[in-house]
Amino acid sequence: MCGIIGFTGYLETKNVLLEGLAALEYRGYDSAGIAFFHNDTINTIKTTGKVSSLIDKVAISADVSSTCGIGHTRWATHGGVSDTNSHPHTFGKVTLIHNGIIENYHELEMEMAALGKFPVSQTDTEIAATLIDSYYEGDAITAIKKAVVRLEGAYAFCILFADEPEVIYCLRNGSPLVACHAKEGSVIASDMVALIKYSREYFVLPELHIARLTKENITVTDLNDNVFTPKMLYVNWDVTAAQKGGYPHYMLKEIHEQPESLRSTIMPRVKNKQLPDFTADGIPDRIFDGINRIIIAACGTAMHAGLVGRVMMEKLLRIPVTVEIASEFRYQDPIIDKNTLLITISQSGETADTLAALRLANEHQATTLSIVNVKGSSIARESDYVLYTHAGPEIAVASTKAYTAQLSCLYLIAYHFALIRGTITEAQCITYTKQLQSVIPAVEKTLNLAEDINKICINLADKEDLFFIGRGLDYALSCEGSIKLKEVSYIHSEAYAAGELKHGTLSLVTEGIPVIALATQTKVYNKMISNIREVRARNAFVILITNGDCKVDASIFDYHITLPELADNMAPFTAAVVLQLLAYYTSVHRGLNVDQPRNLAKSVTVE
Ligand code: AGP
Repeated sequence: MCGIIGFTGYLETKNVLLEGLAALEYRGYDSAGIAFFHNDTINTIKTTGKVSSLIDKVAISADVSSTCGIGHTRWATHGGVSDTNSHPHTFGKVTLIHNGIIENYHELEMEMAALGKFPVSQTDTEIAATLIDSYYEGDAITAIKKAVVRLEGAYAFCILFADEPEVIYCLRNGSPLVACHAKEGSVIASDMVALIKYSREYFVLPELHIARLTKENITVTDLNDNVFTPKMLYVNWDVTAAQKGGYPHYMLKEIHEQPESLRSTIMPRVKNKQLPDFTADGIPDRIFDGINRIIIAACGTAMHAGLVGRVMMEKLLRIPVTVEIASEFRYQDPIIDKNTLLITISQSGETADTLAALRLANEHQATTLSIVNVKGSSIARESDYVLYTHAGPEIAVASTKAYTAQLSCLYLIAYHFALIRGTITEAQCITYTKQLQSVIPAVEKTLNLAEDINKICINLADKEDLFFIGRGLDYALSCEGSIKLKEVSYIHSEAYAAGELKHGTLSLVTEGIPVIALATQTKVYNKMISNIREVRARNAFVILITNGDCKVDASIFDYHITLPELADNMAPFTAAVVLQLLAYYTSVHRGLNVDQPRNLAKSVTVE
């Protein structure tokens, strides 16, 4: 949340910053701003609204050239959405942009007020600018280091000092910053999508290190002034992967990328097309030795992937598995010890609560394994082991391809380690692994249902409430269907274990209320059909989803979506695609901004 970019080099900075902000806009989009040097003076332009509003404002107000500057797109935390609260913030000689939260800002504000320094905005960020300025006596690094001691919370800063044109100072603690040096100059940003145009090689600025960017190079030092040589990373996608590629929205593009993202995530981990193998990932077979408990901790969609993974793991590994909402986890005094395996799941690898859960597990000497999409992200770096999803950049705020890629990793883990533990036979493992590979063409086929689903969604566009119901894996999936729909369509929706409906929620089912009923699991199929009859008896509008062409009494549904037939355990992959398309087209029919839903942002780096 909040997108940051800084550039110093040989190009027109305003263009670099505005382009970078457009790429980073999914991280926050209530206001945007840039600051840049022109004739050794810092110019700041900022506005509420989207980056497009900023582009318009820059076009009319800044016909001046520059080769060094910083830019920010905001997701408001402290202080409402206003021009004044937009970044960059300037105090004295310091102009900065910030991603994160300064938790002790109120105390610092009092302290600054006592010195006669009064910020003009309501943000925590301006206090950081004020504080750094208060320590500034001509040496930027000394001022930053003094401020670090005082600042509590998470932050990534890019800072311009009025006395040092063409130089950008950066610092991070908790919030991400990646940087590269290319022939065009030095670039730093909150994520790789803003850098990829210049280089595929980059590094992650380590926590509590200061980067000094000049046109010629980037130097990194720790807080004791030791020079640090960053480890270079390489992304295996290019600039086109982060563009819409002819689709009207990123979400639709990413839904359609799922056959490819599943192929890239699954196939390199299948040895001789038969058995899962994590040798290349560096995950040892002994990882489960002594483990008597698995905890999966994640947020939102990633947590929902964990719900599906839990079912598969417990069933095959015969080890108790719990799924924890990461933001709750560490406040519950959880039981974690060296016999615990903590699996964190995160697309961004930067989600603050998931990272905090991981750190807690590390403190308790648990073994930690992460399923992460972004290479070199904080969660990946701080885990004992990482299994990367190879989904490529996910730009839409609604997570789609990352979810199915996460599922595939969880399935591979369940299969491989169940075989190692002897809870399944090699023949079973081969069969399951084959079933998982069959998901790739099945997802491809499911995408052909897009037009039918689009038409069904016309019926949902004017609804205000909706239910998803399912049993077992279908219930886990319902949770994901529900968050996807509410996040992009703003329709209130709830996911219910179908058997639980009559214990309270059925009172909300009235004539015409949509119920999306997942009935893909043979074991509970008949029970599920009975539950559908219960809502149908209250005249609900039923959209039924089945695995393969089941013979169903046509009186119990309004629409029937038939998934390509797969083994029951594989149905979450194809059903997920249907639920994503339902959410997507409903949002489109409601005329909403699918990729940037209100109040949300990608990569939630605040707790
Ligand atoms: C997904 O559609 C959501 N926007 C959100 O729930 C997301 O999955 C969650 O914030 C976790 O993000 P992460 O995977 O980057 O950790």
